[in-house]
Amino acid sequence: MGKGSVMQTANTTSQWGAVHQAFHWTIGILVITQIIVGLWFAGIDPKDPALGEAFALHASLGLTLLLLMLARLFWRLRNPVPALPDSLSPWQKRLAKATHWLFYVLVIGLPLGAYVAVSARGRPVPFWGLELPGIVGKNDALADVVIEMHEMGAFVLMALIALHVAAALRHEFMLKDNTLRRMTPLPLRAEPHPASVPGPRGR
Ligand code: HEM
Ligand code: HEM
Repeated sequence: MGKGSVMQTANTTSQWGAVHQAFHWTIGILVITQIIVGLWFAGIDPKDPALGEAFALHASLGLTLLLLMLARLFWRLRNPVPALPDSLSPWQKRLAKATHWLFYVLVIGLPLGAYVAVSARGRPVPFWGLELPGIVGKNDALADVVIEMHEMGAFVLMALIALHVAAALRHEFMLKDNTLRRMTPLPLRAEPHPASVPGPRGR
């Protein structure tokens, strides 16, 4: 597992494998795209003819993300998960873990909830040209509450992404550890000599 070792398909206890990396970066880019599409869609004038297409794109991409995230969760639960680096203090580890699990909760919960909300509104759910049937009966009060939760969840997701990206960049450029690299095919940095690490716990 040393530096520069060939990337494996599966995860190891120190490195994310190729499959998990592919999930991470594909979903990461699509989630950011989906947020931009969502903000665009939510801001469109209801009389604008582009509304239907914006909604179809947002719903289709969102349901695709649901499927991808479920596949990723399945893969993660069946693979070793690399331990967080010891350059993180205990509270930083807890924050990182909570953020990672909340990503799963939100990227699965937002599209599922939206599916319920759109059904409760009495509308079919578009999926790349198909129309998926509703999963709950018409109930406008339910639709209102769930869409409200969708908006709040989307804003929590945005805040977490900002935190997550800032943390990744801090690891790469300030702490200069392997946290970002082990999620990429880039060669790992040599482990620094322990005495040269002025880490928070004087490691
Ligand atoms: C990972 C998946 C998803 C993400 C990250 C996401 C994100 C967002 C964002 C950022 C907004 C704008 C919030 C605002 O400014 O009000 C939004 C709005 C909305 N989304 Fe999603 N969404 C996802 C999946 C879905 C799906 C699958 C559907 C439909 C089946 C959907 C239906 C809606 C609707 C109807 C609104 C408009 C709410 C309003 O009227 O303001 N979303 N979404
Ligand atoms: C585009 C900028 C992004 C960068 C630079 C980035 C960077 C990273 C890095 C370096 C890790 C590895 C942490 C570790 O080894 O423990 C990681 C893990 C993770 N990232 Fe990101 N990330 C980005 C976007 C996203 C987005 C948008 C999501 C939302 C779905 C996300 C979800 C996750 C999750 C859930 C993990 C935990 C490991 C897993 O189960 O996949 N990342 N990220």
